[in-house]
Amino acid sequence: MSAQHVLDDLLDRTVVLGYGRLGHRLRRGSWPSIPTDALRGRTALVTGANSGIGKAIATGLAEVGAAVTLVVRDRERGVAAAAEITAAVPGAAVGVTCCDVSDLAAVRDVAADLARQVDRVDVLVHNAGVLPPRRTENPQGHELCLATHVLGPLLMTEALAPLLTRSAAARVILVSSGGMYTQALHPGDIEYRATPYRGATAYARSKRIQVALTPILADRYAPQGISVHCMHPGWVDTPGISAALPRFRRLAGRLLRTPEQGADTAVWLAATDVPSGRFWHDRRARPEHYRAGTRTSAADRERVWQYCAAAAGLPAR
Ligand SMILES: NC(=O)c1ccc[n+]([C@@H]2O[C@H](COP(=O)([O-])OP(=O)(O)OC[C@H]3O[C@@H](n4cnc5c(N)ncnc54)[C@H](OP(=O)(O)O)[C@@H]3O)[C@@H](O)[C@H]2O)c1
Repeated sequence: MSAQHVLDDLLDRTVVLGYGRLGHRLRRGSWPSIPTDALRGRTALVTGANSGIGKAIATGLAEVGAAVTLVVRDRERGVAAAAEITAAVPGAAVGVTCCDVSDLAAVRDVAADLARQVDRVDVLVHNAGVLPPRRTENPQGHELCLATHVLGPLLMTEALAPLLTRSAAARVILVSSGGMYTQALHPGDIEYRATPYRGATAYARSKRIQVALTPILADRYAPQGISVHCMHPGWVDTPGISAALPRFRRLAGRLLRTPEQGADTAVWLAATDVPSGRFWHDRRARPEHYRAGTRTSAADRERVWQYCAAAAGLPAR
């Protein structure tokens, strides 16, 4: 491993240095710019794109030529974000589609609508995220972080696979979080019923599941030419952070990244040919674990996959 990579890893282990604005500043010097026509003629969907990192990802994709559909749960907020993006990127093609991605019925409906409207999807970014203050469930009875970050994205990817397959380079990107480093898989309590609920823990557990399932999804969709990536945006100053973690935001303050800085790796993954099934941060594949206590067996990973695939209604293959 080169000295540059050792320094890079150390930055992440300090968390604040690697995941904050400084990490981005120190690393970006070595990054080539993404060609402005990298995604010309391609179509992209971004969930939770009316705000924060999702809006910045959608803007970044439009800047490199993609026609982008913002998948949002509130049409008015989506239309306002689309107007902002077209003002920032003149000539950009930006559409808005409504879907609560935690509701599996709504995900099925939106995938069916999209299949009638477009003949191909090249990039699908699962960005929508929540950190609920108390345990809540989606309409199908699944814990909300699990439903929003795992089950909805699993179902949407499966339902859109026929459209993704028509792309020459289909890429699915899950926006996870470095917070997942604090949590192991809990194959015996995936719905978080057995112990007192903490929103931040539920959030990190579901983000851990995203990372754990990424290699399984990469294998599942490889025969259809669809690559699957997971990424951590860094700690980013967004409306979501202000609302869910106000104390963290106050303490981290100016150390936090801008949404554009947080969006960079997702946009880069959408535009770049890299190996499928990995976890990325700042344009580099990163370890799945830093702490021994979060390591789990292949059997536990498989148990979590079996549960989530069944809960999302995925057909066995
Ligand atoms: N900010 C950070 O430091 C950080 C760090 C690591 C990972 N992340 C991840 O980055 C992603 C974006 O977060 P953010 O910080 O940009 O937060 P944000 O500003 O709150 O944005 C979250 C977006 O997700 C949407 N959303 C939430 N639940 C949804 C649902 N059920 N269906 C459709 N859309 C839904 C929200 O829509 P509404 O406007 O309707 O609520 C909003 O547009 C999340 O996955 C988050 O976990 C963020």
